[in-house]
Amino acid sequence: MSKNEERHSVSKMSSSLKENLLDRMRNTHQSSEKNRMARFERDVPPPVRRKQTKFEDLPEYKQVVTQKAASDQLGIANPFYRAHQTAAGATTVIDGRKLINFASYDYLGLNRHPHVLSQAHDTINSFGISASASRLVAGERPVHAELEERIAAFYGVEASVCFVSGYLTNVAAISCLMGPKDLVVHDEFIHNSALAGIKLSGATRRLFKHNDASDLEHVLRTVAGDYRHILVIVEGIYSMDGDIANLPAIMKLKAEYGFWLMVDEAHSLGILGRRGRGTFEHFGIDPREVDIWMGTLSKTTSSCGGYIAGSAALAAVLKASAGGFVYSVGLAPVLTASAIASLDILENEPERAAALKRNGALFLKLAQEAGLDTGLSGGFSVVPVLVGDSLRAVQLSNDLHAAGVNALPIIHPAVPEGLARLRFFITSEHTEEQIRQTVTLTAEKLKDLTERNFGLASIDIQQMMKMLSSR
Ligand SMILES: Cc1ncc(COP(=O)(O)O)c(C=O)c1O
Repeated sequence: MSKNEERHSVSKMSSSLKENLLDRMRNTHQSSEKNRMARFERDVPPPVRRKQTKFEDLPEYKQVVTQKAASDQLGIANPFYRAHQTAAGATTVIDGRKLINFASYDYLGLNRHPHVLSQAHDTINSFGISASASRLVAGERPVHAELEERIAAFYGVEASVCFVSGYLTNVAAISCLMGPKDLVVHDEFIHNSALAGIKLSGATRRLFKHNDASDLEHVLRTVAGDYRHILVIVEGIYSMDGDIANLPAIMKLKAEYGFWLMVDEAHSLGILGRRGRGTFEHFGIDPREVDIWMGTLSKTTSSCGGYIAGSAALAAVLKASAGGFVYSVGLAPVLTASAIASLDILENEPERAAALKRNGALFLKLAQEAGLDTGLSGGFSVVPVLVGDSLRAVQLSNDLHAAGVNALPIIHPAVPEGLARLRFFITSEHTEEQIRQTVTLTAEKLKDLTERNFGLASIDIQQMMKMLSSR
């Protein structure tokens, strides 16, 4: 056999061997697939089509329908979702009527400030509207880094990271940092976004009595279990009640027990402290001693989004692993630039924070003099007027609306039934006259409802339910 013939027969042999091998593999695969299917048919019961619930049958939907039918029956208009026909500030326009407005977060009156508007316009001209994708995946715009540096400098900490909403900031940060082996202890009045973050994290959750440092200590002392990390969450100014967290007492516990401390500054940024720096300035605390500063960009900075500020390592962890950052679009450049412009004004015009404090204190004083129940409010950005049940709160809001004041009710389940309220957001732009007029009208309208015994107590709920279900 020549060398060539030898090579040819070997390659022929190897290709037939290959075919053979492949055939055997195919057969083995087919027979194991057949066996698998046979086992499946023998062991797995046939499909049962579940009865799929219609959304109309959900108890949550039935509750919405019943509430609407009940308010229609009682002739109570829905105070929610009314459309503003202008940018809402100390005044607004709804249904063509100019109203004094206490229902917007624009605490320092920056939403229409020329500096904010011109920065917003310039940014739209250069970058359009959207960040178009996640910053991690598709890159960012210069304003993103600029805003994060500004926020870090504002708190005197190493770094910050911004998210597309304040709500998402709490959800993303808490669920990223905490896990099933951890413990979160929070004030009982903490915002829903923090609760959502804790739930998502899978951490054990304990609450302490509102603004009660000794109860927090009791919880810290009695928690059983060996947790990996402990996080305590409070709000600078509480969103529903308007009082300030007892931060010095909590810092003392932090030094004693050792935990991460997170402070939500949604309603205190630009408000507390001589220069509006927030809770740390109010108490003269070194901001670096708080592990996690959280805030929203939708309130004082009249934009949208939220931030976490703290150590460089904290920001790095969130940027690398927080789902709400990694898998969500970057903050729109125009909103980022607007927040930067608002910070410029906040820093350069401390008189705005001073005006807000004057207005808050005046509102609180007048309301208390008029016999209104302002609960725990310290008279800053948020002053609630507690009125009892949800129905009465809704009607009071409607009566004020008719009289020329826009202030919205907070009703069950956002607050416990019986603690329904109107919540007044105070801004630096409100005039003394607007505040006086609003307090007087609120006291008058509430007195009228009380004299008419208007509220849930005056209604035969059983009777009404019967009537509604027989429709
Ligand atoms: C205390 C607190 N945290 C977080 C948020 C969520 O912020 P945003 O409305 O900007 O999403 C709010 C909203 O009102 C709030 O009151």
